[in-house]
Amino acid sequence: MDIFNRAREKEISYHETLYKEAVLFQPGSWLAKPVQAVLDHLEILPFREMRVLDLGCGVGRNSIPVAQRIQAVNGKVICVDLLPSAVDKLRQYAALHGVSSNLEALVADVEHYEITENTYHYVIACSCLEHMSSEEAFVSKIKQMQAGTVEQGVHCILMSTEVKEIDQETGLEEGGLIELNLSADKAFSILDELYSEWEILTSRQVQQDIQEVKDGRDVLFRSQWITFTARKGGC
Ligand SMILES: C[S@@+](CC[C@H](N)C(=O)[O-])C[C@H]1O[C@@H](n2cnc3c(N)ncnc32)[C@H](O)[C@@H]1O
Repeated sequence: MDIFNRAREKEISYHETLYKEAVLFQPGSWLAKPVQAVLDHLEILPFREMRVLDLGCGVGRNSIPVAQRIQAVNGKVICVDLLPSAVDKLRQYAALHGVSSNLEALVADVEHYEITENTYHYVIACSCLEHMSSEEAFVSKIKQMQAGTVEQGVHCILMSTEVKEIDQETGLEEGGLIELNLSADKAFSILDELYSEWEILTSRQVQQDIQEVKDGRDVLFRSQWITFTARKGGC
C-alpha cells in the first residue's frame, strides 16, 4: 500500500476510535475544548447572517461553539468531514447543545468538495489541509476557499507540518505517516504567496511533541503546528 493510502487508513482508524470513546467537551482528550484562535477570530467578523464553513469538522469541537456564538445573528455553520461516524456524532452533539438549526453537517472528502463561490464569511480548516493528497491539491483547495469567501471574510488555518517520529533509544528520525508532510517553511511560503493580497492576521508555529510507545519502542512524535489567519482584501 502506498503512503497516501496507509496514512488515510491510519487517520480513519484513529478518529473512529477516538470519536467512539471520548466525549465532546469532557476532559481527557483534545476534544475537551475548542481552539481559541478559531473563536477569537469570530470577534472581528461583524456580519449578520454569518455563513461559516468548517472543513474537517470532526464531531464539532469548533463548529458547535461557533454555531452557539452566531445563533443570535441568524448564522449557520456548514460542516464537512470524511467520516460518516463523525458527522452522525456531530448531529447528535448539535442537538444536545441546542444548535441543530444553525448547523448543517455533511460527509465528503474536502479535497473533492466543491465550495460555493462568494458565500462564506469565515472558513475554518483545523487539522484538515495536511490530509490533501498532494501539494497541488493543497494549493487548489486554498484557492477554492478564497473564491468561496466574501470581501472582509476571514480564514483560520491550523495544520501539522514536518511530522516525524524519533526513536528515543537510537535517536533515529523518520517521516511521520501523514498524507501531506510539508515542512513548516514550505507551508508558510505557499500560504504567503497565496494570501499576498489578503491581510495576514496570524502566522506562527509551535513545536508539538507527543511521547508514545510504538511496536514496543519509545517514540517521540514531533510536528510543527502552524496557525495562519488572514482577512480578504484587508490590505
Ligand atoms: C484532528 S481531527 C480535527 C477535527 C476538528 N477540525 C477539530 O478541530 O476538532 C481531523 C478531522 O479531519 C477529518 N478529515 C481528514 N481528512 C479529511 C478529508 N480529506 N476530508 C474531510 N475530512 C477529513 C477527520 O475525519 C477528522 O475528523
